[in-house]
Amino acid sequence: MKALTYIEHGKFALQEKAKPQLVSARDALVRVTLGSICTSDLHIKHGSVPRAVPGITVGHEMVGVVEAVGADVKTVKPGDRVTVNVETFCGECFFCKKGFVNNCTDPHGGWALGCRIDGGQAEFVCVPYADQGLNKITDSVTDEQALFVGDILATGFWATRISEITEEDTVLIIGAGPTGICTLLCVMLKQPKRIIICEKDAARAEFVRKHYPDVLLCEPEECEAFVKEHSDHGGADVVLEVAGGRDTFQLAWKCARPNAIVTVVALYDKAQSLPLPDMYGKNLIFKTGGVDGCDCAEILHLIEEGKIDTTPLITHRFKLADIEEAYRIFENRLDGVIKIAITE
Ligand SMILES: NC(=O)c1ccc[n+]([C@@H]2O[C@H](COP(=O)([O-])OP(=O)(O)OC[C@H]3O[C@@H](n4cnc5c(N)ncnc54)[C@H](O)[C@@H]3O)[C@@H](O)[C@H]2O)c1
Ligand SMILES: [Zn+2]
Ligand SMILES: [Zn+2]
Repeated sequence: MKALTYIEHGKFALQEKAKPQLVSARDALVRVTLGSICTSDLHIKHGSVPRAVPGITVGHEMVGVVEAVGADVKTVKPGDRVTVNVETFCGECFFCKKGFVNNCTDPHGGWALGCRIDGGQAEFVCVPYADQGLNKITDSVTDEQALFVGDILATGFWATRISEITEEDTVLIIGAGPTGICTLLCVMLKQPKRIIICEKDAARAEFVRKHYPDVLLCEPEECEAFVKEHSDHGGADVVLEVAGGRDTFQLAWKCARPNAIVTVVALYDKAQSLPLPDMYGKNLIFKTGGVDGCDCAEILHLIEEGKIDTTPLITHRFKLADIEEAYRIFENRLDGVIKIAITE
């Protein structure tokens, strides 16, 4: 089968590989019917994910059809359409039981797929702990509707859940990339009083303006003043940092009102500083982390009910055979790209 492979720092290549086999009784083999490319794939390519193993098949955003299951798999069977979770988790350890699945203590726990074990920018993928890692897609939900459930939409959902948003709140989201927009869709479900998005890229700001006209938009330079002016208590009640830019962590806490929650979804290339003397008296609550992607069944249900729709994010479609061209467009942000769907 064809599989996009991490060759070395700076290089991915589409290679011919053997079809994966079930290894453990809890594995499932999935035929990938639709996949995508994530910013984290680019981080592997550029060497900023040291635990990524050269030679592995990349890709951790996909949906597909179950081909075969190990003897101990209970929740899915061959023929089921499924979403695949970016995270591998056992469901049984201390952290899994508390819902902190990103910290599953299994050797493959956390983000392994397409990083430390073979992923899904390929024709087939073997998914460990299939009862945890797969969720069934009902007939009324299309592959495109379900494509982001296991990764960026799970991230937006988790970030919203831990941010404790109420209907009185002014919520600031910094960054309207694919993950920022997924976060926006989940924040909208909480019906806060106002949502402000800070985005520096004009095309992405325009995307937000076109699809979500009720959201207030600002640029980073004016953000602090804009948020003060458009909030009730001198700053945002909740800030979600989903940009990962050079100064966006500082911007996040500066825009927060005293006692606000600041949720840091973004991953940074460099260490960030927490200037406590400057923050003294703001009494902020910081929440950070890798996504705990254990809400996929609930997210699929919200999609089925028409309450979440991520299909506008799919701006381009390419066949797996042409995935290298898809990477060129995604990596260089050409042609207004937000997300690319990779078809069989
Ligand atoms: N915590 C997790 O588990 C998790 C999961 C998924 C993604 N992420 C992280 O979330 C972040 C966003 O992911 P993405 O896929 O949307 O990436 P992206 O790079 O496509 O999006 C970032 C957006 O932020 C904007 N931006 C950059 N600097 C800005 C600034 N100063 N002010 C306003 N906007 C600015 C960019 O123009 C871009 O639209 C990344 O850091 C990614 O690594 C974290
Ligand atoms: Zn990802
Ligand atoms: Zn576990």
